[in-house]
Amino acid sequence: MAPPRTLTALVEKKTLEESFIRDEDERPKLAYNQFSDAIPVISLAGIEEVEGRRAEICKKIVEACEDWGIFQVVDHCVDSKLVAEMTRLAREFFALPPEEKLRFDMSGGKKGGFIVSSHLQGEAVQDWREIVTYFSYPKRARDYSRWPDKPEGWTAVTEAYSEKLMELACKLLEVLSEAMGMEKEALTKACVDMDQKVVINFYPKCPQPDLTLGLKRHTDPGTITLLLQDQVGGLQATRDNGKTWITVQPIEGAFVVNLGDHGHQYLSNGRFKNADHQAVVNSNYSRLSIATFQNPAPDAVVFPLKVRKGEKPILEEPITFAEMYRRKMSKDIELAKLKKLAK
Ligand code: SIN
Ligand code: FE2
Repeated sequence: MAPPRTLTALVEKKTLEESFIRDEDERPKLAYNQFSDAIPVISLAGIEEVEGRRAEICKKIVEACEDWGIFQVVDHCVDSKLVAEMTRLAREFFALPPEEKLRFDMSGGKKGGFIVSSHLQGEAVQDWREIVTYFSYPKRARDYSRWPDKPEGWTAVTEAYSEKLMELACKLLEVLSEAMGMEKEALTKACVDMDQKVVINFYPKCPQPDLTLGLKRHTDPGTITLLLQDQVGGLQATRDNGKTWITVQPIEGAFVVNLGDHGHQYLSNGRFKNADHQAVVNSNYSRLSIATFQNPAPDAVVFPLKVRKGEKPILEEPITFAEMYRRKMSKDIELAKLKKLAK
């Protein structure tokens, strides 16, 4: 049977379609709203005051990166009106009739647009989410024919949002560079012409949320991700390879910041963690989250920038980010195949 092209018709059903049902070991172990405050919430107020709060803020960020690879930031200078507009337009997009969303259908390998997503192409089990995605940096990557033209105002708001989030990401990368004993621009320079991709996730109400995931467990491949989530909850993280989970407490107006494989493993030589996370769904509320991925350019060279005394570099030789990504994807696809065979 062909996989569903939007989730609209499936939401009202009593039972979940077969293609979304996960193996028992992958199903949620913790509810979407059993929140934990284990992930630190850091105020960025005063981050520019070199003689003032900067040192204290940096210390908190570094500790969080060494511990979980995730933290939340508030007082981040991204205008709350812009955030509210972005959220409103995103919700309105997903509320459009299926045929409108499918005008931007990206199945068949198109870059940017709308899709009911599986985490990996060709994977057997689907994630319970719809996404709309676009590439926003470098600016030459903007293909406006793949950006929705509805609801009205979408392009102007998404452009402004992208610009502000690029600024915030650079500010955070400066702190991490300094923490590694390097010049402020070291991490941004290592990304060369930094890419930015925005993925807006819509997780509709789900008839049997215990059997499925909104987004399968993963680490992000890139440098740093800034996630805006609504107040419903569903983002979960693990530090012990999936044995125990926590659900991140949603905080109005905050961004969840997490490090990806590039930022963690490679640039910091494993000092900073790449957050291991997933999203769960529920039968009471739909949920919206907006993930802004900051990634190195495909041909940026990936190699640890700082190897501390007594450590061995994680990589034997420098590779490009495109190669790093290819290796990650082929490993994931291999694991998914082995899992299928073992059934
Ligand atoms: C993501 O990992 O990209 C999104 C997670 C979420 O929606 O909470
Ligand atoms: Fe993620």
